[in-house]
Amino acid sequence: MNQARGEWSSRFGFILAAAGSAIGLGNIWGFPIMTAKNGGAAFVFVYLILTFVVCFPVVMTEIAIGRHTAKNPVGAFNQLAPKSIFAFAGKLGVLCGFMILSFYVVIAGWVFGYFVEVVSGGLQRLAQDGEFGNFVANPYKNLMYTGLFMLATVGIVVGGVRDGIERWARMLMPTLLIMLLALIIYVMTLENAGKGLAFYLIPDFSKITVPVVNSALSQAFFSLSLGMGALITSGSYVSKKDDIIASGFIVTVLDSSIALLAGLLIIPAIFTLAPDTTAETIKAGPGLIFEFLPKVFMNLAGDVGYFFASFLAAFFFLLISFAALTSTISLLEVPTSWVVDEKKIRRKKAAVLIGVVIFIIATGSVLASGASDFFTHFITYPSGADKDFLSFVADVFFEMCLPLGGFLLSAFAAFRWKTHNLSKEIAVGREHYIGSVLEKWLNFVIYLCPVIILFIFVNTVLAKLFDIVLF
Ligand code: PHE
Repeated sequence: MNQARGEWSSRFGFILAAAGSAIGLGNIWGFPIMTAKNGGAAFVFVYLILTFVVCFPVVMTEIAIGRHTAKNPVGAFNQLAPKSIFAFAGKLGVLCGFMILSFYVVIAGWVFGYFVEVVSGGLQRLAQDGEFGNFVANPYKNLMYTGLFMLATVGIVVGGVRDGIERWARMLMPTLLIMLLALIIYVMTLENAGKGLAFYLIPDFSKITVPVVNSALSQAFFSLSLGMGALITSGSYVSKKDDIIASGFIVTVLDSSIALLAGLLIIPAIFTLAPDTTAETIKAGPGLIFEFLPKVFMNLAGDVGYFFASFLAAFFFLLISFAALTSTISLLEVPTSWVVDEKKIRRKKAAVLIGVVIFIIATGSVLASGASDFFTHFITYPSGADKDFLSFVADVFFEMCLPLGGFLLSAFAAFRWKTHNLSKEIAVGREHYIGSVLEKWLNFVIYLCPVIILFIFVNTVLAKLFDIVLF
């Protein structure tokens, strides 16, 4: 970065930061769970359509607003639409960053914990049925792992060692991709992989129900770090010389590719390693990758030996931890940049303070997997569903608030900022944009987006909380 407020040194800097934010647990942990829970290929199909038709225009809007205002989300909306309902979108984004990080860091702690356990020789134990349940119910270990992860995140955000992290990301992200590919090839050689592949790739369109569409939209928003201003924040450092359509498109494609690959690994692995699995009985819970990845590596141990398989497993969990870290950094960045810009508190003090508060809230999620009865049975929805604290926070801020933020954002672009301003900003750095088919298409869908998102949002809230399915 250079200049007074800072700017990415090249277009690559933005792509790296945005892809680092996007690629994380949402792709590797969340996507396979959502796919298994929502009928396999039908979900994947809806997910891809929503990603490119609904989410990509929102990606472009966020980056454009960020670059146009060079501000954090709250400042950006205050500048472009002061004292309007849209100013709420900025505040909602800050709150989402805050609350999403509070459970994200717990799951990141599980991943890091699995790395530590495998390094200390525990792969065989982790591969046993039920071991994940034991692991997450241990409050001391998990508080430590969550705390360590939070500490690393705060340390990087205040320490200005971002460049170092980016250099690492440049190396480790391609390594993650290669390992994913290698593991996919390995799993494909196992018996029953074909059944998993069919479940993952051949859509049964009758499975596309409203809840499936709801989950696909929330998942796409979460995975792209969309709807809470993370891309406004990284967009605020983009140079006026850059072509933001190209950058936004690359980030979207990279993010969905990693999600698709993670699914291609985990879903067939379930069918090969739990032989009685069928499309109807397939497992889908927060423990999915934690139960099946150790089993994949234990299987591999039969071919390459326990030591080498443990080495690979440890390395893989470390790579996932790293992907999670580049996401937690961007989650913390949103509330931090807000406090720094708007409340005039020093960056270091702001990040530490926010980090401590988030850690305190995260404690509830650490204790929500059996350690404390209160947090494990935190709330009963009017629908009768009993939710632990982690699932409750995820339901509200991941499944509901991100799409709500996306709704406000696209409604803002369509009805307040207006498409000619959006086009003007996108055209900076991209010749011949104005008047192109692409411009016409984006300006058309940006009107559709608020309608589609609002429709899905209302359904999600009714279905989640009240078990009412309208359509
Ligand atoms: N996109 C990240 C992931 O897939 C999570 C995230 C959401 C990060 C919102 C920043 C903002 O893991």
